[in-house]
Order: sequence, then structure tokens, then C-alpha cells
Amino acid sequence: MAYNLLKGKKGIIFGALNDKSIAWKVAELAYEEGAEFVLSNTPVALRMGDTNELGKKCNAEVIGADATNVEDLENLVNKTMEIFGGKIDFILHSIGMSPNVRKGLPYDALDYNNYLKTIDISALSFHKVLLVCRKLDAINEWGSVVALSYIAAQRVLYGYNDMADAKAVLESIARSFGYMYGTEKKIRINTISQSPTMTTAGSGVKGIDSLIDFTERMSPLGNADAEDCANYCITLFSDLTKKVTMQNLYHDGGFSSMGMSLRAMTQYDKSFKDCPD
Ligand SMILES: NC(=O)c1ccc[n+]([C@@H]2O[C@H](COP(=O)([O-])OP(=O)(O)OC[C@H]3O[C@@H](n4cnc5c(N)ncnc54)[C@H](O)[C@@H]3O)[C@@H](O)[C@H]2O)c1
Repeated sequence: MAYNLLKGKKGIIFGALNDKSIAWKVAELAYEEGAEFVLSNTPVALRMGDTNELGKKCNAEVIGADATNVEDLENLVNKTMEIFGGKIDFILHSIGMSPNVRKGLPYDALDYNNYLKTIDISALSFHKVLLVCRKLDAINEWGSVVALSYIAAQRVLYGYNDMADAKAVLESIARSFGYMYGTEKKIRINTISQSPTMTTAGSGVKGIDSLIDFTERMSPLGNADAEDCANYCITLFSDLTKKVTMQNLYHDGGFSSMGMSLRAMTQYDKSFKDCPD
């Protein structure tokens, strides 16, 4: 059921690759809630993925941009403002990639060039988006910017590799720019720390099936899926959350506050019996 929460709002949504992508679900829901937006992804992703199909469905222009490239971002933001005849109200940064994870190089044997790429793509791109928008004065007062993060920024989750470091930087950028954007323009900047989710990026995480099962057993409300995440994003883009800024907001069914649950303990005991010592 739509509530018209984003009626009249314009935005940019980064990172919708296919119908599993969290950004895809956000775009579908933002469209239902009355928003107009531009979709962006890398030129390669636009060729290999289904972003253009989503564009048709949501009546959205699709503009290619490598989010690590400032010129691409300037072009994207300028074109978006041309399309809408003015500034935008919301941005979703739903971008992440680690060449080390892709190549199966573990944290203690990673490649430093890859590491720099991970940080650039998954964290500094957020800084670049925000800096370009600030220079071009592209976001309206009381606008809202959201980036997607993961609890590996705070806690060690085996196998998340250099993406954990990237997420820590991402969350810090949200706070640092949140201060500036807040005082200057009343614009809020937050990160959502999402449950593990079976997407293209998610499926690259080591042991994702076990991780999803573990967090499901640990979380009182169960894992949050991509649709749940989209719902939360919409509230953050809406005027109902105007005073929420500089936060890392856990959206994980309660996982981040748990130590041990009965369901997880029961499973743990079983495996203990199967494999004593
Ligand atoms: N899936 C999970 O378990 C999970 C959990 C918490 C947070 N997240 C975060 O959610 C976000 C979206 O990921 P997803 O799970 O929907 O997977 P996804 O693979 O569908 O989305 C990742 C997107 O990043 C884009 N991208 C990669 N390099 C880029 C670049 N240089 N410029 C612009 N775009 C680029 C990809 O093309 C893709 O569309 C990521 O930040 C991810 O880390 C995912």
C-alpha cells in the first residue's frame, strides 16, 4: 500500500544491478511512493545488468557513472538537475565491491592495489558523491542521503575482509559530512546497517549461507530482507525523519543487540554433539 510519502521528491539512486539488488527494491518502492529519480550505475553494469529495464518500469532516466570518478559524478548530477529543472531531495548510495573478496584473497594475504580499489569504490565514492553535490549545490534543504553499510564496520565477522574497513570509513564519512550538510543546509546523512542479504554483492561474501542462517537464528525479528530495507530507506527519504542525521541505523531484526539466542544455542549444541572436540 502506497502512502505518497515521496510525492514531489526527486532523487538519484545508485547501485540497482538486477532485481535482487537492494537499490532495485528501493527504486520500485520510491516510484510507488510518488518519487521521480535518476538511476545510475557503472557503464559495465548498465551493459551486463538490468538497470535499463528498471528505468522503463519506473519511468526513470538511466545515466552511467563510475562513482569513483569525479567527472562522471559531476556529469551525472548536472544532467539530473537538468532533467528535473532544479535540485534533488534524496540520494541512495548502494555501492560496494571488493576485488580482494572477488579474487578470494584473504585479509592477511590481500593485494594492496585491490584494497585501495575496495576503499575507493565502497567508501570514498560516498565522499565524492557528497562533495560533488555540495559544490554544485544539488540537494534541497531538508534533503536526505542514505548509504548502505554492514555491522562488520563495528564487529569482526569472519571473511568480510577489507569490506569491513571500507564500511567503517563509509560510516565515518556520513558523520563528517552530516555535520557540514546539517549546519549549512538542514540536509541529513545516515547509513543503514543492513542484515546479510542474498544479492550479487552479498553472494560474494565468504560463507554467506551460514552467515544468513546464523543471523536469522540470532535476530528476534529474523533477518531484514531487501524489501524491508527499501521500506526503511523510504522513511528516511520522507519528511517523517527530518531530525535523524549522522546515524548508523541498524536494520537487522535486532541482531546487533544480541549475544546468544535460544535458537542459535540449540543449533550450536547440536553441532557440538555431532563433533565433540
Ligand atoms: N547484500 C548484503 O548482504 C548487504 C548487507 C549490508 C550492506 N550491503 C550493502 O548494500 C549495498 C548494495 O549491495 P547489494 O547487496 O544490493 O548488491 P548489488 O551487487 O546488487 O549492488 C552493488 C552495486 O554496486 C555497483 N557498483 C560497483 N562498483 C561501482 C562503481 N565503481 N560505481 C558505481 N557503482 C558501482 C554495482 O554495479 C552494483 O549495482 C552495498 O553497499 C553493500 O555493501 C549489502
